[in-house]
Amino acid sequence: MRKNFIASEGGVHGKAFLGRPQLQNEAAQLLEEGTSSATEKDSPKVIRLPGPVPDYLQKHYWWAYVHPRAVRFWDRQWLINLILFGNFIRLRDQALAEFWPYAYGRTLQVACVYGDFTVKLAERIAPGGILDVVDVLPIQIQNLRRKLSNPTPVRLHYGDSTGLDFDDATFDQVIVFFVLHEQPVGVRERTVEEAVRVLKPGGKIVFVEYHRPVRWHPLHLVFLEPILRVLEPFSPDLWNHPITEWLPKNRTPTAIRKQLYFGNLYQKVVVTY
Ligand SMILES: C[S@@+](CC[C@H](N)C(=O)[O-])C[C@H]1O[C@@H](n2cnc3c(N)ncnc32)[C@H](O)[C@@H]1O
Repeated sequence: MRKNFIASEGGVHGKAFLGRPQLQNEAAQLLEEGTSSATEKDSPKVIRLPGPVPDYLQKHYWWAYVHPRAVRFWDRQWLINLILFGNFIRLRDQALAEFWPYAYGRTLQVACVYGDFTVKLAERIAPGGILDVVDVLPIQIQNLRRKLSNPTPVRLHYGDSTGLDFDDATFDQVIVFFVLHEQPVGVRERTVEEAVRVLKPGGKIVFVEYHRPVRWHPLHLVFLEPILRVLEPFSPDLWNHPITEWLPKNRTPTAIRKQLYFGNLYQKVVVTY
C-alpha cells in the first residue's frame, strides 16, 4: 500500500488542527523550515511534505508528541529512561545489537524516538549505507533533525507508517521501536504489513515493545496496567497478543526470535524473511 502526502494550502494538518491556531502555525512554520528553505548543503534533508495527523495521535497522544511544548518537555533522555523504568539504554542497545558491528545497506526506522536512539543508530550505519526515518509529525522530524550531526547518513521523511512511500523490498533492515503499542489494532496491522512489504528477502525487522510482565512483577503494585490503560490505551494489546499475530499472512518468515526483559515487561522480536 502506498500513499503520498500532499500538503494543501492552509491544510498541512487538516482537521486535526482546527481550533488550535497555535499548533497550525507551528506546523506551517516547520513545514517551511523543513522543506522549502532546505538547501543542498543542509543535512539531513527532509524529504516529502507532511500529511494529516492520525486521529489516534491527536486524541490520545497530543500531550506526548503533537503539541509544540510536548517535544521540549519530553525529549530528555533521563525522562524517557524514567518512563521505561530505567530501561531505555538497555532496550536501545538491545535493538542496536541486531546491527553489530554495522547496519549494512538500507535501514528504515519507523517513527522518531525521543532521546538518542536515532543518533546511536546512525553511528551504526556502515559506510555507504543509508538510514531513512519516517514520522507522521513535522514537529518530531524537525526535532530529530536538530539532534543529528552534519554530515549524517540519515534521511528524514514525513510519512505514515500505514502507507510507506517506498518500493517493495527496499530495505535490508527495519526497526520499529515502541510504535505498535501506540496504534489501534487496524493501524498496527497496516504498520507491520508495510514494514514487511518494504523489507528485502533475507532482511530482518526488529520490534521492541511492551509485553505482559510476570505475575510477581513489583510494578503491579503501582497499578501499572490501569496507568498504561489511561495513558497508552492501546498498549494492553501488547500484553495480550504476540507481535507475530499482526504479521501479514502472505509472506512466511524464515526465523522469529523473541527475547524478554525486565520481568517480561519488554520484548524484542526479530523477524527474518
Ligand atoms: C516511536 S513512538 C514512541 C517511542 C518512545 N516511546 C519514545 O520515547 O519516543 C512515537 C512516534 O511515533 C510517531 N507515530 C505514531 N504513529 C505514526 C504513524 N502512523 N506513522 C508515522 N509515525 C507515527 C509519532 O509521531 C511519534 O513521533
